[in-house]
Amino acid sequence: MAAFGTVFTPEMIISHFHNNSWSQPELVATDSISLHPGAHVLHYSSTCFEGLKAFRHADGGIYVFRMDKNVARLAQSSQLLALPQIDGAMLQQMILDIVKRYAADVPNPPGSMYIRPTHIGTEASIGKAAAPSLESMLYVLLSPVGDYFAGGAKPLRLLLEDSARCAAHMGMVKSGGNYASALQPIMKARAAVQADQVLFCPNGDVQETGAANFLLIDGNEIITKALDSSFLHGVTRDSILTLARDRGMKVSERELTVDELLERAQKPGTEAALSGTAAVLTPVGTLIHAGKEYQVGSGQGGTTTAALRQALNDIQWGKAEDKHGWLVKVC
Ligand code: PLP
Ligand code: COI
Repeated sequence: MAAFGTVFTPEMIISHFHNNSWSQPELVATDSISLHPGAHVLHYSSTCFEGLKAFRHADGGIYVFRMDKNVARLAQSSQLLALPQIDGAMLQQMILDIVKRYAADVPNPPGSMYIRPTHIGTEASIGKAAAPSLESMLYVLLSPVGDYFAGGAKPLRLLLEDSARCAAHMGMVKSGGNYASALQPIMKARAAVQADQVLFCPNGDVQETGAANFLLIDGNEIITKALDSSFLHGVTRDSILTLARDRGMKVSERELTVDELLERAQKPGTEAALSGTAAVLTPVGTLIHAGKEYQVGSGQGGTTTAALRQALNDIQWGKAEDKHGWLVKVC
């Protein structure tokens, strides 16, 4: 199977913001955009994106999962980056139209069609270091995908870093610069301790990894950082917490310190997991901190993580009732 996110459909759908209005969305070849080398995005990083998925059900129907949440988050990211305001209804229709056009390419579960709405500032002005781009492009890429983590559901090794993933006020913005700022620590962690990911814990506060949220599961309780502007408000995080509440679990959204995490993690039966559209819910087997390795529970991932992942997949794949109205039928 090709690496996650390297295969694209031949067309995407695009709209341009120009003279204060959005153009009629149109289908274009996926490798076709042209950008001025002085485009705002290339110099001042006026860029944000989303990641959501479409799933194929056994009856052949194609459904997108929680599209409204991702569109709302892109609207918020755009606003926080001072990009032109997106038209949420138009973007939802763009997503539905392009997924419908490539419905035949949506893989069967456990695969899916990864959907990547992207919004970039295109105004050609290298003087606008401290001013917004008045022109932009909004396009939706499609990529048929399987598992994000090459090891499948193999428990991950996380290095706990006493540093932030990105600037504190930017964490809730899904913007390329945040990924760039996390890259060096992640590469170092891979080389030094064969970590799969870094868990960023500035000042001992457990936040998130480079591309997923972090959840600690201790018996009937699920603990994760309460929402603030410093990290990404994951749609999967929200979905898993909702499913946990449905199962009668106690959900604690609060600060979690590295000390508490390491102490709880070593108890038998404790579990930890990463949640994200790409990651789904992937078990964490080992935490590495200050030169020491801590096995999480059995180190093999646990039954609650597996059950919650299954509960989420069952809804996405049409095997369980969609009680919360998370799916929208495409065709
Ligand atoms: N945190 C970061 C930094 C991410 O890149 C992602 C992935 O989208 C998430 C968390 C999880 O967000 P979601 O569940 O909406 O995909
Ligand atoms: C996602 O889960 O959608 C992500 O954005 C993760 C990653 C592929 C950047």
